[in-house]
Amino acid sequence: MTPDLLEQGARRIEQRMAALASRSAETESGGRSAGIGRIAKADGEVDTTHGRILYLEDVSVSFDGFKAINKLSLDIAPGELRCIIGPNGAGKTTMMDIITGKTRPDEGTVFFGSTIDLLRHKEAEIAQLGIGRKFQKPTVFEHLSVFENLELALKTNKGVKASMFFKLDSRQSDRLAEILLTIHLADSVARLAGNLSHGQKQWLEIGMLLMQDPKLLLLDEPVAGMTDEETARTAELFLTLKGKHSLMVVEHDMSFIRTISDIVTVLCDGSVLAQGTLDQVQADERVIEVYLGR
Ligand SMILES: Nc1ncnc2c1ncn2[C@@H]1O[C@H](COP(=O)(O)OP(=O)(O)OP(=O)(O)O)[C@@H](O)[C@H]1O
Ligand SMILES: [Mg+2]
Repeated sequence: MTPDLLEQGARRIEQRMAALASRSAETESGGRSAGIGRIAKADGEVDTTHGRILYLEDVSVSFDGFKAINKLSLDIAPGELRCIIGPNGAGKTTMMDIITGKTRPDEGTVFFGSTIDLLRHKEAEIAQLGIGRKFQKPTVFEHLSVFENLELALKTNKGVKASMFFKLDSRQSDRLAEILLTIHLADSVARLAGNLSHGQKQWLEIGMLLMQDPKLLLLDEPVAGMTDEETARTAELFLTLKGKHSLMVVEHDMSFIRTISDIVTVLCDGSVLAQGTLDQVQADERVIEVYLGR
């Protein structure tokens, strides 16, 4: 693309953002409820009447005879922000692989709400059902602007023709504007994603997930490589998402976990070793042993 075209594109994006900003200002007094996600979308309710959005029971998987996940059972309540900690190799990423359909367990039960058996669905279908996943490394489109990345997030899983003629409707535009504020990138709409800092790229990717209005977000080591300031802002961000979405956050950064956590689950050798507040699990002899005894 020529510099001229880039500049024109940036101007067009700025104009659209100005229009969006004025529209969201009009609705601000009416609260932010029309913005980013609720637990359930109108077009695909998840049955959480039993108080769980995610339910795993006795899940196991082996790789070449090695049990990476071993009779793992846990559940998450709607709107909960659950933190998962555990030593390297505990099975945290593998658990996310199983929930998202990337890895099939050898045995066990994995339910989304009380009616959706995730083991019957493929990876793409699970994403469509409303489970968004953030891998450790940011995967944004570096040659596109912040705005275009967010817009593109709505086009995924659409056909080529549908994508070409895709236009944000006003609800989506409002949500995009609100997400930009939430992820602290409202001042950077026209910037190329490739020019953002590592932390900003992570926020942008989280924003891209939010555009799809996920009910459950799985975040694997989201603050790894961030500066202290970026980490603090990410903690704020997650606290604002809690309640509107259900979140499962895997992290090794304990001060970050301390800021955001209610219940912490400690994984070790593929199953739950302990669960409770961070203070409770940190005082648990078995947890101290696995962190210090290796
Ligand atoms: N596809 C695979 N093939 C073989 N072994 C695997 C595979 N995926 C994971 N493992 C093994 O399973 C165990 C659990 O790995 P996993 O990546 O889930 O740990 P983790 O808790 O995410 O660790 P970390 O904190 O280092 O990210 C490790 O011993 C790993 O080597
Ligand atoms: Mg991992």
